Amino acid sequence: MTAGGILVTGAGTIGLHVAQLLVEQGREVTLADVAPDLSRIEAIVDVEAVRIATLDVTDTDALATIARQNRFEGVIHTAALLTGAAHLAPARAVAVNLGGAINVMELARRGAVGRVILAGSTSVQYATFGVPSPDPIPEDFAIRVVSQAPASIYATTKLAAEFLAGNYAALFDTDLAVLRYAAVLGATLRPDAGLVSRLVGMLLEKGSRGEVAVIDDPRLVWDGIEEFVDPRDCAAGSVAALDALTLDTRIYTLTNPIGYTFERFIDTVRALHPTLRVDLRVPIRGGFASAARPRTALSDIDAARRELGYRPAYDLRQSFEYLATLLDREKALR
Ligand SMILES: NC(=O)c1ccc[n+]([C@@H]2O[C@H](COP(=O)([O-])OP(=O)(O)OC[C@H]3O[C@@H](n4cnc5c(N)ncnc54)[C@H](O)[C@@H]3O)[C@@H](O)[C@H]2O)c1
Repeated sequence: MTAGGILVTGAGTIGLHVAQLLVEQGREVTLADVAPDLSRIEAIVDVEAVRIATLDVTDTDALATIARQNRFEGVIHTAALLTGAAHLAPARAVAVNLGGAINVMELARRGAVGRVILAGSTSVQYATFGVPSPDPIPEDFAIRVVSQAPASIYATTKLAAEFLAGNYAALFDTDLAVLRYAAVLGATLRPDAGLVSRLVGMLLEKGSRGEVAVIDDPRLVWDGIEEFVDPRDCAAGSVAALDALTLDTRIYTLTNPIGYTFERFIDTVRALHPTLRVDLRVPIRGGFASAARPRTALSDIDAARRELGYRPAYDLRQSFEYLATLLDREKALR
């Protein structure tokens, strides 16, 4: 494999931060998305320094062509439909989340690209919540395959992709890793965005205007605690996985393992916008993103620390300060 730069699929919250970090490292980056949103990209990435491609990861021919033309040394595959979008379009979510992952792994199996890093999700743990545990949740957590099967189409696609990644690694010696990102902190006013980005975008926007933030979507609130990760920490962990000498554990959790109650989360926004008022129109019940039960333990990040040198660098307040600047940039560019 010749060094032909890195393919980043998905020009969303994580893909954009990964692309920008790679650019800052002086690396050649192709950022591919089914519908690249230039104003969103420009808010985070130096667009002069990346190649932007319109590409559907379900299109095997297009993927083969771009791989042949560029001989990528690695792929960070983030393109996906998230929880809400997957619920609205289940068949498309399976095609993109599972089919896209398979298509990228196939490229690696055939030697058309180097190492593949797949975006996983800690939502694969959600159905196991509710059993109190003194220990953090390891990558190899126990799951009952019927009563604790993933409760969302999204989490099912993510767990199935993990299993297939395990098959590709074991059966075909494909060089890959899955990174289970926790709820990623983003901020946007786009209604079709992921749950956290919508929640934070609304809170920051209403807070900055002194207006009331109305929360009427039960998926945006949580009982107990939830953990989050800054997109810059996701990017650092993802690039570290791309460059790691070996990937022995193969599945790693990237989070900042600090438990936030919903109230503490809101209070952290209030530290920036003291006049923020929240009109909560749904009961606080179950976990984040409609998990049936609240999270009872944080994730174990020891494998990522040990093998990738991953260290979460940002706490929630620092993330909100950063996201407020991103939101301003997004609004200015629209
Ligand atoms: N945001 C989170 O809280 C979170 C948490 C855990 C895991 N993840 C995972 O991380 C990855 C990236 O998440 P994100 O927050 O950046 O999401 P995002 O929605 O911001 O970005 C996803 C991007 O994928 C693109 N996309 C969708 N279908 C495509 C297709 N067929 N071909 C090419 N591109 C396509 C979308 O246009 C979008 O730009 C996803 O795989 C997601 O499952 C996200």
